[in-house]
Amino acid sequence: MGNRTESGPASANVEVVRRYHVLSKHHPQRFAPGPGALDWANQPDPFRRFAGTERMPLPLVGGERFCRYDALFAPAGDEPRPFDGAGLGLLFELGLGLSAWKEYEGSRWALRNNPSSGNLHPTEGYLVIANETPGAPGPGVYHYAPHEHALERRCRLPDDVCRHLRHAHTEPCALVGLSSVHWREAWKYGERAFRYCQHDAGHAIAALRFAARVLGWSLRVLAGPSDGDVAAVLGLDRGEDFEGAEPEHPDCLAVLDPTGGAMAEVPPWEDLASAMARVAWSGRANRLSRHHVRWQTMATVEAAAAKAERRLPPTAPAAGAITDAPEPAFAADPPAEAVRIIRQRRSAVAMDGTTAIPKSAFLRMMSRVMPDPTRPPWDAFPFPPAVFLGLFVHRIAGVEPGLYLLAREPGLLPGFRAHCTADYLAWQPLADCPLPLYALMPGADLRTVAARISCGQDIAGDGAFSLGMIADFDRTLAAEGPWAYRRLYWETGIIGQVLYLEAEAFGVRATGIGCFFDDLMHRLLGFDPTSTAWQSLYHFTVGGAIGDERLKTHPPYGHLSEG
Ligand SMILES: Cc1cc2nc3c(=O)[nH]c(=O)nc-3n(C[C@H](O)[C@H](O)[C@H](O)COP(=O)(O)O)c2cc1C
Repeated sequence: MGNRTESGPASANVEVVRRYHVLSKHHPQRFAPGPGALDWANQPDPFRRFAGTERMPLPLVGGERFCRYDALFAPAGDEPRPFDGAGLGLLFELGLGLSAWKEYEGSRWALRNNPSSGNLHPTEGYLVIANETPGAPGPGVYHYAPHEHALERRCRLPDDVCRHLRHAHTEPCALVGLSSVHWREAWKYGERAFRYCQHDAGHAIAALRFAARVLGWSLRVLAGPSDGDVAAVLGLDRGEDFEGAEPEHPDCLAVLDPTGGAMAEVPPWEDLASAMARVAWSGRANRLSRHHVRWQTMATVEAAAAKAERRLPPTAPAAGAITDAPEPAFAADPPAEAVRIIRQRRSAVAMDGTTAIPKSAFLRMMSRVMPDPTRPPWDAFPFPPAVFLGLFVHRIAGVEPGLYLLAREPGLLPGFRAHCTADYLAWQPLADCPLPLYALMPGADLRTVAARISCGQDIAGDGAFSLGMIADFDRTLAAEGPWAYRRLYWETGIIGQVLYLEAEAFGVRATGIGCFFDDLMHRLLGFDPTSTAWQSLYHFTVGGAIGDERLKTHPPYGHLSEG
């Protein structure tokens, strides 16, 4: 499939998406439209449940010796674990399950292994099983309920649908699905919430890919199905089951291959979606808030950025430039177990402003965000890489402080460079570095600038480094259509999930930063202020964390044994 430029309704929708993007920017003098004061009594329930479904508890599995942390980034090689209840329990726990309960002054809230803006968790997870496997649930569509750590059976799948799903796949065959309850984020963030839901979906894709890797299983997002197909397969289009409840917007389906093998699309989607219409469903979604506020521009972008067509991205993912380069050695390489790092992942709420990390650790982190399509998590993401990192280096031993660029897809560098008109940018390749990493402002102390750009959040200046993820925006939307707005955010969420785990593995901590002044970042690089050719979509910080001693921590699933 060749490159293609959108015309007609698709290009009109690209304009709607661009207008949404501009309107949802934060500016120092004016934040994106949001609710202002929070209506706490109306805070959305973070746990969706389907009343009237059969609920099948999943086991809690230790998994400590299943996979070394470093192997998370290696193509599968271990003997895959069986596709059974225990395997599915570990997959969903590590991907979307609880990591802890926090308590402060009588309130308790759950954290999860996947992060979420404001801890609001818009992302819901599903499992579609297409064949009978001993020890696994039978063919059907299941919603994952993280609080209960259980699968809720929304429907059984008849043989013809199973045969269709198994097409071209080794047995057993399963799909993992993701959807988003946009209201959960809109409650707090108003119009900017659509962006956060997409970030969170990207984090969830990576979290599930890593969880599958622990089991020796493969997982790959399908680029083909339309949103309508995803909704039909997961039962999200069943208005009667969501009456009075907040809708779930389809995000994606991913093929889960428990043999760890190669995966294909599941054609043809038209027949599958119409076969799903004959399935008998059960369950009614719970209502998450008493009242709702409609954010008008968010409603328009939901429609404009829908994936209306079944088509693959215009180019196959490029082999990452790093594919043949050795991974830089990691100076303090602790032999960690993957599940321990995944379960201990947390966001730093404050950074100490002193911890430095060695150059070798920094370069390893950078090598792992390179979009190598042969390695997790990038083997799960079937879209051409389109995001660069603009890095604020504050304290990396052996690297001068300053502004740097990681050109994750070197082929896009000339276009990016043409857009950066600031005459102070040096464009010096970093010495002794196999990565496309350039010093743009070597020697600059950007701690105050980084914090200022991140809406004045000190974590961006007090980390060892922080960064903005800058996407090849206009060109991607023109080539792939307006829905690509979402997948650009997914790419940034996947990068973020890598950084979260890498930070934990090195004994430091990270935090995603969704609150930033978009155009301040652009101005630093000298972008034309009237253009959206390249846009910073997500910021991040990595460094030495300061804990919050006021909070009590409880185990994630203590409530299950307490009955
Ligand atoms: C997309 C996204 C945006 C975020 N933005 C911010 C932010 O601007 N400032 C901040 O302090 N934390 C931010 N966070 C961190 C979340 O608040 C954190 O993930 C959430 O409270 C759950 O905590 P945990 O990551 O420790 O599980 C963000 C996280 C995500 C995933």
